[in-house]
Amino acid sequence: MIERLLRERTAVARSDGSFHTLFPVGVSAAEGEALREWVQREDAIRTIEIGLGYGIAALFVCEGLLANDDPGARHVVVDPYQSTRFANCAFQFIDEAGVAELVEYHPEESEIVLPRFLAESRSFDLAFVDGNHRFDGVFLDLIYLGRLVRAGGIIFVDDYQLPSVARAVSFCTTNLGWTVEEVSTDDDLHHWAVLRTTHVPPQRPFDHYVEF
Ligand SMILES: C[S@@+](CC[C@H](N)C(=O)[O-])C[C@H]1O[C@@H](n2cnc3c(N)ncnc32)[C@H](O)[C@@H]1O
Repeated sequence: MIERLLRERTAVARSDGSFHTLFPVGVSAAEGEALREWVQREDAIRTIEIGLGYGIAALFVCEGLLANDDPGARHVVVDPYQSTRFANCAFQFIDEAGVAELVEYHPEESEIVLPRFLAESRSFDLAFVDGNHRFDGVFLDLIYLGRLVRAGGIIFVDDYQLPSVARAVSFCTTNLGWTVEEVSTDDDLHHWAVLRTTHVPPQRPFDHYVEF
């Protein structure tokens, strides 16, 4: 399925017959492969993705989960606009790839869903962020995911070339002690950064603040 989508680059939605150009909205092969490798390297079983889009990244994550071969594997995806902007194309591809049973979908904004997950004590091994790219959107995603992803876990961030994304990441590295494991410029349109959260959250005085 991944190979077919990367080759054909367009698709017709089964839901309403609309025509879709999948890229550059969808992640490139290089980014998808990097994401799949991180899922495998981290032995991830529970993953979460903000911004399903055309589901290209989700297919790579599912490929990684299948390789990790745990019967409890689950990929949680959050996207309020799948049925409108994307005519449910991602689910069409996920169904055709035969991985629908791995995917749990939440059709809401991440800023609503993530605090709820926190209240429900959910946790994840790895997160992928490609949702609302404005500073406040990315910042909230990172702050909540920092608490939802296991200590010392991976948060893979798309569109690191955008100042809004880079600045939100910069807060986490300068103020929260997260580290950057990888930055890639392999794909001209989408740079990505792979962040690792701290193993032990830093003790910060009430007025702690580092310019970022
Ligand atoms: C660039 S697309 C993601 C493409 C996807 N990674 C792929 O490979 O096909 C960005 C997605 O973020 C979603 N989005 C926008 N605002 C969001 C929010 N507040 N919470 C969650 N998803 C959001 C959009 O609906 C869109 O599906």
